[in-house]
Amino acid sequence: MKLFDVYPINYIEPAKALGSTIWDKDGVEYLDLYGGHAVISIGHSHPYYVRKMTKQIKNLGFYSNSVKISLQDELADKLGKLSGLKDFSLFLANSGAEANENALKLASFHTGRTKIVAFTKAFHGRTSAAVAVTDNPAIKAPINFDHHVEFIPFNDVEAVKRAVDDQTCAVIVEGIQGVGGIQVATDEFMKAIRIACDKTGAVFIHDSVQCGYGRSGKFFTFQHSKVKPDIVSVAKGMGNGFPVGAILISPKFEAKHGLLGTTFGGNHLACVAGISVLDVIKKEKLVENAATLGAYLFEELGKFSNIKDLRGKGLMIGIELEEPVKDIRNKMLFEDKMFTGVAGSHTIRLLPSLALKKEEADRFLEVFRKYVK
Ligand SMILES: Cc1ncc(COP(=O)(O)O)c(C=O)c1O
Repeated sequence: MKLFDVYPINYIEPAKALGSTIWDKDGVEYLDLYGGHAVISIGHSHPYYVRKMTKQIKNLGFYSNSVKISLQDELADKLGKLSGLKDFSLFLANSGAEANENALKLASFHTGRTKIVAFTKAFHGRTSAAVAVTDNPAIKAPINFDHHVEFIPFNDVEAVKRAVDDQTCAVIVEGIQGVGGIQVATDEFMKAIRIACDKTGAVFIHDSVQCGYGRSGKFFTFQHSKVKPDIVSVAKGMGNGFPVGAILISPKFEAKHGLLGTTFGGNHLACVAGISVLDVIKKEKLVENAATLGAYLFEELGKFSNIKDLRGKGLMIGIELEEPVKDIRNKMLFEDKMFTGVAGSHTIRLLPSLALKKEEADRFLEVFRKYVK
């Protein structure tokens, strides 16, 4: 059998990694400023994470949600404390799309409504409802077009006031759009969504799959704007590579047996991955590190004269150039041995581990200066 060929890949085969360093199968060393698409939060193969995961798999890797799994309570407790959402409850899933799918479903169960307000350039995943609220017709199949979705411009306060009404089930928004090119939601926009949802009874869903879990220099980006959503979706950095996704749910929602469910979500190994990540984020002060190193990178990149626009917060950085970035990105990857990402054709996207070190940031700046002044 061969693989169903859906990914345009770079012909590099990572075989080993530690922190922000990757070695390919021939032993060639790379600096990772992309974290496998914002997934590597505490650094590759963190020794504490490896120890805890190894111990768990030796004891028990999986049992279904029909039995007591105390590790789920430990994860919920630690996440509540570290994120500041202690009064929320946790539903565990396996990916970002699945988290958003459950968020939208829960909003619809709660309100009895169907209309969703989403935003231009949004990306929320590829499952049915998640892709319906994603602003990219190219990845929607005919069966995905039946949802009741209104797309309005991102960061447009007046459009929010107009679109959110008493038919609206939910508003779903990324605090910083990732795939959409590292576009940061303004505080006014976030506040306008909160006010519109309060006025109409719509549910405020904050997609923190890419921008959350400390990446922005606060645990969640909406904490910069001082608003509180009703449901927060997380994934990517939550498991540092082990597939874990979740929604954090405000106390206003009532749980009922059978309302949501999954086979794999919240399994023993997934919980230990999630717990290890939170332990390391707390012990090594990685949210603070993301804020400090992010500020440093923004300051240094701000000195370049040929950067058209610099966007983001913390260690979620978009560098837009006048010219397409493909060549520079490929040169950095194949010649300078440095992983970075892109968003669209003109923006380089940096999503390194939250444990990035200053000397690693400096190495990136030194290499980047070869291509951009
Ligand atoms: C903001 C956002 N939401 C949802 C998703 C979907 O996550 P997953 O690929 O884990 O389903 C992504 C993935 O890139 C994302 O960036």
